[in-house]
Amino acid sequence: MDARTPRPGEITDRNLALELVRVTEAAAIAASSWIGLGKKNEADGAAVEAMRHAFDQVDISGTVVIGEGEMDEAPMLYIGEKVGAGGPAMDIAVDPLEGTTLTSKGGPSALAVVALAEQGNFLHAPDIYMDKIAIGGGLPDGVVDLDAPVGKNLRELAQAKKCQVSDLMACILDRDRHKELIAKVREAGARIMLISDGDITGVVATATPESEIDIYLGSGGAPEGVLAAAALRCIGGQMQGRLMFESEEQVQRVKEMGHPDPQRKFTLEEMAKGDVMFACTGVTSGTMLRGVKRFGHGAITHSMVMRSKSGTVRFVEAHHNFATKTWLRN
Ligand code: FBP
Repeated sequence: MDARTPRPGEITDRNLALELVRVTEAAAIAASSWIGLGKKNEADGAAVEAMRHAFDQVDISGTVVIGEGEMDEAPMLYIGEKVGAGGPAMDIAVDPLEGTTLTSKGGPSALAVVALAEQGNFLHAPDIYMDKIAIGGGLPDGVVDLDAPVGKNLRELAQAKKCQVSDLMACILDRDRHKELIAKVREAGARIMLISDGDITGVVATATPESEIDIYLGSGGAPEGVLAAAALRCIGGQMQGRLMFESEEQVQRVKEMGHPDPQRKFTLEEMAKGDVMFACTGVTSGTMLRGVKRFGHGAITHSMVMRSKSGTVRFVEAHHNFATKTWLRN
């Protein structure tokens, strides 16, 4: 096969990655008007609307599979909504504003996030919780496991990283439901970085050499889990997730989405398989990206865009002029 001949599951137009950045830039700029104003729903709504309109310029026939909720509860970017200007059929996962509370308080690491894959390649996860474990790349397969005791995972990870458990840093969402998990990590002797929100950043941080995070543990949103898996597929790393159901109705819903056994553990590849593209733009500054800098007639954005096939990670700094892109100002 010629190096340029697309393989099954491969996205044929690699320029789509840069198109995705435009989409996350628009959402981030829109959300940035609401930083620190204490209005998380308005911030989210602005990001959703901007992202929805930006998709109209992208040459795909996209179907939202991870989105803002079910059709009857979300006016835009709902699961099943068709987006794009027409072109190859793609599945789309979006989180127009990851960190609505962070944005409303001016806290760190709020992002606008999008991922794209060929049809059927994302786990179709509704807005429920997912139990997650993630580590960075370059480590032996299966060094940690969602079902293994916390202490064992940390010891195995320390051994693989040729360090002490006390050198490891675990990232965990600061939630009451994680009390027991936090106690177990402390008992095993590892250090912990508790975050108030934003577990896509937490997972991606495990694979980012500059970050201090070695492992992500705990439950967060299932949609965020799939988006984080898409990012890890591109940047390299290991992740497992298990959907956490609160009712039989939710189990049935996921079965209808095409998963005969939705209660089992999903691997990274099962959450985001094939050729995956991922883009995110910083809304507020954090460990991964700087936030939107606004000035009189424009804004500067910082984004990251990556693709699993090539493993290339690009950082894009864009200077936007509101005089020529009036639709960006809100
Ligand atoms: P929002 O952007 O919807 O506010 O989500 C932020 C977040 O922290 C996610 O990163 C995480 O997956 C989820 O919320 C955790 O949910 P909860 O706040 O219910 O623990």
